[in-house]
Amino acid sequence: MSSDRVEVIAPATIANLGPGFDVFGIALKEPYDVIGARRVSEPGVMVVEVVGVGANRVTLEAKRNTASVAAAEVLRKANVDFGLELSLRKGVRPCSGMGSSGASAAGGAFAANLLLDKPLPMSDLAMCAAKGEQASSGTLHADNVAPSLYGGFTIIRSYHPLDVVHVVPPANLGIVAALPDVMVSTKEARGLLPKSVEMRKLVHTVGHASSLAVGMSLGDVPLIGRSVSDVIVEPVRAPLVPHLKEAEEAALKAGAVASFLGGSGPCVASFFDLSLSDGKAIGEAVRHVFESKGVKVEVWVDGWGKGCRRV
Ligand code: HSE
Repeated sequence: MSSDRVEVIAPATIANLGPGFDVFGIALKEPYDVIGARRVSEPGVMVVEVVGVGANRVTLEAKRNTASVAAAEVLRKANVDFGLELSLRKGVRPCSGMGSSGASAAGGAFAANLLLDKPLPMSDLAMCAAKGEQASSGTLHADNVAPSLYGGFTIIRSYHPLDVVHVVPPANLGIVAALPDVMVSTKEARGLLPKSVEMRKLVHTVGHASSLAVGMSLGDVPLIGRSVSDVIVEPVRAPLVPHLKEAEEAALKAGAVASFLGGSGPCVASFFDLSLSDGKAIGEAVRHVFESKGVKVEVWVDGWGKGCRRV
């Protein structure tokens, strides 16, 4: 360990990507959280400050804050007797469907790990971060924390044991993330999930999920576009996001290869080919849908991003 203090960037992520509920996720370049950690002799993890976008919705209570729960898991697993003070600068708005709690959890775990004399492997960090995420959403899901840690595209092959498959997406895969001024809590959105799934929907989902993974690893953006289809989760959550369908249609018309609900929403995410389509035009088309209905919206247009890293 070279210092007793670190600051890390933890990127926003989009989970599910159509057919990959709780399985697929991709990291964005922006926005991101910045997590500061300071090693202290007193055991335990404290959150000393949360500032930034939607900071008032983030608890300082260490047992419920995703970053501190994740960091405490890292210290517990590493069996060390020191503690940490964390400070969070939120760039990813809570209740956005852009992995806000996941970014803080990933950043908390990553920062704590940098302060260990013997750091844990990334595979251990993913489980620590997923436990942090659980503190916020109520259930353990790793499809946001994994891409925030690893960057690029990730697949949760298994939860028991946790096994993350990391894939570098095509360089020409562009992403538009549009965040309307609507709040969706992941906990509530998970409450809408069906308890069972019809066989024909399962067949549809396995086909599309497999093809999407192949499209990511072969660098086939049109195949990725054809593979983003969700007949199970998005249909039950769509009522939480006014104008979702119009926004998706506008993105497709403007050149996106796919447009879908980001995570549990309300983010509307779109994929496009950076070399063939104009991401700004896609973003503006989605913006127009929301703003013409009087809903404010923030839009990010970029390629996919890297994972957690030291500032
Ligand atoms: N897979 C999670 C869900 C992601 O859809 O509930 C939450 O962003």
